[in-house]
Amino acid sequence: MNYQWYPGHMTKAKRMMEENIKLIDLIIEVVDARIPLASRNPDIDELGKNKARLILLNKSDLADERENEKWTGYFQDRGAFVVKMNAKTGAGVKNVLPVIMESCKEKIERDRRRGIKNRPVRAMVVGIPNVGKSTFINAFAGKACTKTGNKPGVTKGKQWIRINKNVELLDTPGILWPKFEDQVIGAKLAMTGSIRDEILNLEELSLELLGYLHYYYDGILEKRYGITESDDRVDMLEQIARNRRCIQRGNELDYGRAANILLEEFRNGKIGRITLERVETEVDTEQKEEK
Ligand code: G4P
Repeated sequence: MNYQWYPGHMTKAKRMMEENIKLIDLIIEVVDARIPLASRNPDIDELGKNKARLILLNKSDLADERENEKWTGYFQDRGAFVVKMNAKTGAGVKNVLPVIMESCKEKIERDRRRGIKNRPVRAMVVGIPNVGKSTFINAFAGKACTKTGNKPGVTKGKQWIRINKNVELLDTPGILWPKFEDQVIGAKLAMTGSIRDEILNLEELSLELLGYLHYYYDGILEKRYGITESDDRVDMLEQIARNRRCIQRGNELDYGRAANILLEEFRNGKIGRITLERVETEVDTEQKEEK
């Protein structure tokens, strides 16, 4: 399968990001806890190399709690602050403010030494589409917060949301483009619903998902769909089609419908809390690359 992204969008998004990054102290990067690496664009590390970083492990309600803990450690080991959350219900959102203050301690101290008092920390939320940036901004900023108008030195039209006297947030998130060089990454983004379904071959995608589920969560498909699991992914899809009565005209099995059911139920957490990426695999790869 070939996953596409549009170069025009990329250039525009990158330019906006570069402009906005100059204005802020802290980058709040939202990632999807089910695919913490595939859902980030590593170019942000270069773009924001002199800024403090807070990673929000969002949709943690859909991801495996054990893996959430491991990914928290992974990003912390690489110098980021991390908060695990569910932006949709607001769970974990209250932990964000104290961590922002902690992550900008050095800046606040530096300001104090220079005699600058009460300059708020400025932050921008970034992330690829669909990770929950807007949901987070709404949950974090709430309705009670006042938007501050244009200020000198701020690109015209930019709005800041004043969270409290110490923190301001750029009201529009920075959109990063997913990294599409790697088809495995494309597939993971598609599975979690970050790429529009119309451009995808859903049957092929569902076979890939079946492979992951059987490999990482042996028994989970048997429990949900009453099938016998094996490495034969087509056979598993066929069993799902049969057990869920996906039949089309001529009494043929409807694989398309079975694929839809599987993807839909995975995306809304009905199959279980699932993480498709493992810290161990990632660290192994990093070590091999270093050699
Ligand atoms: P974006 O700005 O980064 O593009 O993402 P957005 O906030 O629009 O969120 C994308 C989808 O993800 C929304 O679902 C949103 O409700 C859901 N979402 C965001 N954060 C979480 C979370 O922590 N957990 C879960 N389970 N879902 C989350 P939608 O399908 O567009 O709408 P709806 O299902 O909420 O109606």
